Amino acid sequence: MSMTIRSAKRDDLAAVAPVLYSAFRSISDQHRFPPDFDSPETAHKVASLLLNHPQFHGVVAEDAGRILGSNFIDLRSPIVGLGPISVDPEVQNKGIGRQLMIAEIEEAQRRGCAGIRLVQLAYHNRSLCLYTTLGFRSRTPLSIMQGKPLNQRFAGYEVRAATLADTEACNALCRRVHGMDRRQEVEESVGQNSLMVVEHLGSITGYTNGVGFFTHTVADSDRSLMTLIATAPSFPGPGFFLPTTNFEVFNWCLGQGLRLVAQATYMTIGLFNEPDGAWLPGVLY
Ligand SMILES: CC(C)(COP(=O)(O)OP(=O)(O)OC[C@H]1O[C@@H](n2cnc3c(N)ncnc32)[C@H](O)[C@@H]1OP(=O)(O)O)[C@@H](O)C(=O)NCCC(=O)NCCS
Repeated sequence: MSMTIRSAKRDDLAAVAPVLYSAFRSISDQHRFPPDFDSPETAHKVASLLLNHPQFHGVVAEDAGRILGSNFIDLRSPIVGLGPISVDPEVQNKGIGRQLMIAEIEEAQRRGCAGIRLVQLAYHNRSLCLYTTLGFRSRTPLSIMQGKPLNQRFAGYEVRAATLADTEACNALCRRVHGMDRRQEVEESVGQNSLMVVEHLGSITGYTNGVGFFTHTVADSDRSLMTLIATAPSFPGPGFFLPTTNFEVFNWCLGQGLRLVAQATYMTIGLFNEPDGAWLPGVLY
């Protein structure tokens, strides 16, 4: 193969989206798990967002004009999120995934990023081995949870839509829990009316830009996190990622009737500190 890796362009969309869909679909079908993208249209929408967002960087593998795969990094924070990576099922297991990973790891390093993170689907042995041999350390097992909205409230914990005036409190909370903030994502979420905060005793004790597959949540305590889960109108995508090591919240979710969909692994290169609080990562981290 005379394959090359190059930066992705907007007009790669028509070729990137079907590979994104078929790569994830084939692996989830083999293992009988729900797919990350429930339809070609969802994959197309996500690929379009990735290719058009000024702070996502994409690469594609191309051979004689045919796109064989793609990979992305989210550059909105000093810690970058990597993925989704996909390789055409017809040419998987031939080293293309490794080259797409190396290209984005090098891109992150060139830009001086402090760390790189990703979420790996645990049923896919190949990606776990690939990421590990590229230097990613497994930090925590994640449980993907799905179910009917819980429609519950806890006394003393109020949930409301956030405004731009709340973003500094959200960023401070994220820094306290994770040692870094995700201010640009938080501000974008206010613009999309998707940022919610929980208040307890007059302070913001948690925020979420959606309890779902592509979004993230940070809270100072299990109770604040449970409040955000309990008031979420839905859990978009295959489900939300809950660190399985959070016994209290995992056990509570199961008691509320939420179901375990699949397992995943939180993996990091570079700067990482054990989160000091309650949290839900999104599929990028
Ligand atoms: C994940 C994905 C991108 C990997 O791409 P790929 O081109 O198939 O992978 P590569 O051939 O580059 O690398 C696979 C590596 O895993 C190794 N590997 C595979 N199965 C293994 C196993 N059971 N034990 C140990 N190593 C294993 C291979 O030997 C290879 O390592 P090498 O480069 O040292 O030879 C591709 O499988 C894909 O598109 N999957 C569907 C979408 C997806 O799952 N994305 C990732 C979500 S976390």
